[in-house]
Amino acid sequence: MNTTGITKFLIDHAGRDTVSFHMPGHKGARLYKRFGYDSFLDNIVGCDITEIVGADNLFQTEGIIADTMAKYRKLFDAKASYLLINGSSGGIIASIMACVPQGGKLIMARNCHKSVFSGLALGGIRPVYAYPSMVEEYGITGPVEPSEIERLLSENPDASAVILPSPNYYGICSDIRAIAEIVHAAGKFLIVDQAHGAHLKFFETCGAAADAAGASADGPFAVPESAETQGADLVINSTHKTLCSFTQSAILNVPAGSRFDDLYHLEDKLQQMESTSPSYLLMASLDINADILSAHGGELFEAWRDNLNYFYQEAAGIDGLAFMQVKDGARQAMDMTKINLDMSACGLDGHQLEEALLAHEIYAELVTGNILMCMTGIGNSREDFDRLLAALREISETHPAMQNIAFAADSGSTDAATAGAALWTKHRTLHEMPRVKELVPLQQCAGRICAASLIPYPPGIPLICPGEEIGAEEIDYITSLRNQGDKVIGVGADGRIAVGK
Ligand SMILES: Cc1ncc(COP(=O)(O)O)c(C=O)c1O
Repeated sequence: MNTTGITKFLIDHAGRDTVSFHMPGHKGARLYKRFGYDSFLDNIVGCDITEIVGADNLFQTEGIIADTMAKYRKLFDAKASYLLINGSSGGIIASIMACVPQGGKLIMARNCHKSVFSGLALGGIRPVYAYPSMVEEYGITGPVEPSEIERLLSENPDASAVILPSPNYYGICSDIRAIAEIVHAAGKFLIVDQAHGAHLKFFETCGAAADAAGASADGPFAVPESAETQGADLVINSTHKTLCSFTQSAILNVPAGSRFDDLYHLEDKLQQMESTSPSYLLMASLDINADILSAHGGELFEAWRDNLNYFYQEAAGIDGLAFMQVKDGARQAMDMTKINLDMSACGLDGHQLEEALLAHEIYAELVTGNILMCMTGIGNSREDFDRLLAALREISETHPAMQNIAFAADSGSTDAATAGAALWTKHRTLHEMPRVKELVPLQQCAGRICAASLIPYPPGIPLICPGEEIGAEEIDYITSLRNQGDKVIGVGADGRIAVGK
């Protein structure tokens, strides 16, 4: 086969014996083969069709697509479930536009994903930022406190809805039950971006979900209940991130108890957001995901729970390895399927730990300061966890904890992360959106008003939004991210950004 570029990269990568602790959640063909979907895999190109006779239509469902939607309604106990083929991103934008009128007001966590900011731009919507608390030690944003939402709702009675991510990228969850009660008491809608928590619903039935008091099954592993169960009105799930549908497929749920009833309006917004040529491969993968969950969800989730209990128990004995904790370890606040490794006691920051794991052919999902996040999914096997444990043991032996502890302190990486963290939650005055823009080198932008979001990726959360003033410290931070090889969307290859003229 004569291949180049993207194709060559993919085929080479798929042919290697790597371990995936990154998206997507299926982790390769293994799960599909185990449950007998070889004929789908073998006919992947033949299955790439359009709306031929009998194939139904995503925007006028009455056949095979309607059947798949019904499977999801049952799985999630929802009054409506929609297949998304533009990822959670499309579902988030449609949900915002369905709940907030053009030019209206939205209370939103400041650490929302960029798709929420796209929703603002498309709907001419005015944001009111809810600032999450911080996990100071690691320089990352934590949960949004219910009291912050309560305050903003009383100050902004004209807001139509509240949106926040839970879990966030690192697995940190907000108290959705308490927030839903507050939002409903004010007569508004609660939208939860559960892009990183499509799996939560299915842990509820196998005793791994901690309840509001933090109780859960035996073992160190626990996850919070899903936003569907906790009372949210619209919930968007990236089934591709942790379950087993293909990348870019996702599910939008209107849970059974939701106060949102205007499904026609929501469907209209979904149509405005989504491609008119929805991929049947993505929709088929959603169908397969639903069937696997229905037929084998119990055994798969028990195995995933057992593997994580095993991993956390074994890892506790590795010298110099720590895990990020939040809220004094409150179990209902953390989705522990995301393994946040910290080996700074061995002198390794997140990037160095990532390098060390790559030497063992182990690919992680996200680096921030001293944390390396390994995203587990429904497709990970016991062997994957064993390979991660073996690699971590080896790294701990070659970088003994005590000997190098001074290095971690000297490296300043925690300080840098904490300084960066302050910028993520900095309360900036929101100026009028610049109407006329110009491109200016980042280094010359101190004091200028940002005209396009500057978004470190991952995590894909805007550091500076349009209408906010850019300061010297933000310029230094973005420069340091770029110097260490991180991508910052909004900064051109020539180092220029859009600011108001
Ligand atoms: C918090 C959060 N929300 C939403 C999204 C968008 O999800 P998708 O990639 O399915 O469009 C992401 C993507 O990583 C995310 O991190």
